[in-house]
Amino acid sequence: MPSLLEVQNLSKAYGAVQACDHISFSLYPGQILGIIGESGSGKTTLLNAIAHHLPHDSGQILYRSAANETLNVSQISESDRRQLMRSEWGFVKQHACDGLRMKVTAGANIGERLMDIGERHYGNIRTEASRWLDQVEISSDRMDDLPSTFSGGMQQRLQLARVLVTRPRLVLMDEPTGGLDVSVQARLLDLIRQLVRTLDLSVILVTHDIGVVRLLAHRLIVMRHGKIVEQGLTDQVLDDPHHPYTQALISATLIP
Ligand SMILES: Nc1ncnc2c1ncn2[C@@H]1O[C@H](COP(=O)(O)OP(=O)(O)O)[C@@H](O)[C@H]1O
Ligand SMILES: [Mg+2]
Repeated sequence: MPSLLEVQNLSKAYGAVQACDHISFSLYPGQILGIIGESGSGKTTLLNAIAHHLPHDSGQILYRSAANETLNVSQISESDRRQLMRSEWGFVKQHACDGLRMKVTAGANIGERLMDIGERHYGNIRTEASRWLDQVEISSDRMDDLPSTFSGGMQQRLQLARVLVTRPRLVLMDEPTGGLDVSVQARLLDLIRQLVRTLDLSVILVTHDIGVVRLLAHRLIVMRHGKIVEQGLTDQVLDDPHHPYTQALISATLIP
C-alpha cells in the first residue's frame, strides 16, 4: 500500500440521517487533503469516524504505520489503537478548549503528551515544551500559565504544539481556524502551512472555508449530505468545478 491512509466505504448514520455515506479516498505521504462542504454535510462525523472517536457502521480504514505495516485500524485492539493515536496520529479540534486541558499549565499541556509516549525526564520535557511554545510563537515565559489566560488564537497555537510535539505522521484537523478573528486566522494559517511543510506531515483538513483549502490543500474532497460529490487537485476543483453543488459553493463565497 503506497498510500498512508485508505478510507474504504465508510458509513455512519444517526437514526435516519446518513451523516457519512460510503466515503472512500486515499491519502498519500506529505499530502494535505482538504474536505469542504456546507454545515451538516458530514465533515466532522467523517473525521471522528476515521479517528475512532465515534464508531462507524460499515467500511474500513487502513493505515500504513511507521513500521511499514498495513493496519486495519477498525480491527486492532483498543489499546493498540490508543497507542497509535498517541504516537503516530494527532487530532486538532475546532475549539481549542476541547483539545487542551484547561486546568493544567501550557507547559504541562505539551509535556503530558510526551509522557504519554514514554518520556520521563523532567528537564527534557521542560526543554521540549519551551521549544514548542517558541515554534508556535508563544513566549516561553507563559509556560506556567493556564490556557484560560490565553487569547483564542494563542489557545489554538498551544493546541497545535500539544499535538505536534510527539511528531505525528498523520494529523486530522477539524476547522482549525474556525471561530477566530480574520486577522488571527490568517496568522494561524501561515503557521500551520509552515509547520506542515517543515515536519512533512500528512493532513486531513476539514473546513467550510474555501480560502483555507486554496491556501493549504493539495487535493480536495467536496461533501454534500454525507457523500463525496467531487474530488481532485485543489486548483482543478476550484477553478473548474464540475458538480453544480461545488459551483454554488464557490460562487457563494465570491458574493460578499
Ligand atoms: N451526535 C449526533 N446525533 C445526531 N445527529 C448528528 C450528530 N452529529 C451530527 N449529526 C448530524 O449528522 C449530519 C452531519 O453532521 P456533521 O458531521 O457535524 O457535519 P459538518 O461537520 O459537515 O457540519 C448533520 O445532519 C447533523 O445534524
Ligand atoms: Mg463540523
